[in-house]
Amino acid sequence: MEALRGARVVVTGAGGGIGSALARAFAAEGARVAVNDLDAEAARKVADEIGAAVVPGDASSVVPAARTALGGGIDVFCANAGVGTGGGPEADDADWELAWDVNVMAHVRAARALLPEWLERGEGRFVSTVSAAGLLTMIGAAPYSVTKHGALAFAEWLSLTYRHRGIHVHAVCPQGVRTAMLDSTGPAGDLVLAPTAIEPEDVARAVLDGIAAERFLILPHPEVAEYAAARAAEPERWLGGMNKLQRAYEDRLAERTVRQEEERA
Ligand SMILES: NC(=O)c1ccc[n+]([C@@H]2O[C@H](COP(=O)([O-])OP(=O)(O)OC[C@H]3O[C@@H](n4cnc5c(N)ncnc54)[C@H](O)[C@@H]3O)[C@@H](O)[C@H]2O)c1
Repeated sequence: MEALRGARVVVTGAGGGIGSALARAFAAEGARVAVNDLDAEAARKVADEIGAAVVPGDASSVVPAARTALGGGIDVFCANAGVGTGGGPEADDADWELAWDVNVMAHVRAARALLPEWLERGEGRFVSTVSAAGLLTMIGAAPYSVTKHGALAFAEWLSLTYRHRGIHVHAVCPQGVRTAMLDSTGPAGDLVLAPTAIEPEDVARAVLDGIAAERFLILPHPEVAEYAAARAAEPERWLGGMNKLQRAYEDRLAERTVRQEEERA
């Protein structure tokens, strides 16, 4: 894509998974990429492989270092780092806070640091890796679902507020993607996400297509559009269907407990 040749691109959480696929895809388009991750070693490995700059550390505060590493400006910022916190209200405050911090506030803080430069130039692109959980809701994972709804709301807000001022925003909302995060979702992920899981490279391709088409909502699993429409049109029916999944999930949890007890005996 011509528009990405030479573009200065930051990808957070790019030491593995979807972020590393995004970094590779942008580099293959001729972009100058800065690879961020909390895991400095993982970030360095990806950066070395694609000839990118490395800006390790927390995604929340990466903009100044990335700007310097990319020679003074940023054209595309991919807010991709995320944590897949599971559980419900019983999850610790610390877990809720981490999900809020990484899945939402890191986007807010990045936008705060980027907007002055972008508004002055009249151009900038913010790519938010949300999740289908931001449009729907993921069983067994309240902190994840709530914060991904927040990330989607923030991306929508950015888009509707600044689109006439040259700021392009994309919200990427995949279901299951074969990464370390999917591996950590246990029976809920096995039930809901694994059967239709795609590769990180598929997500990266969808992002490039979405940028080329200037589409806000990027759905690597196109069926998510139908689920979101069904949820909006018939919420009672949608909740009933999701509760059916919840009960199947509870059955799987119970089976797993029995299996673990048998193994221990
Ligand atoms: N895997 C899926 O099924 C799936 C589906 C939908 C959305 N997503 C979203 O995609 C994004 C990437 O997830 P993934 O599946 O590649 O997971 P992953 O766990 O493979 O990668 C996430 C990366 O983010 C890094 N990270 C975590 N907190 C960070 C922070 N504060 N600062 C910088 N880096 C940080 C981790 O070290 C890790 O390398 C996340 O936002 C996730 O919610 C994933």
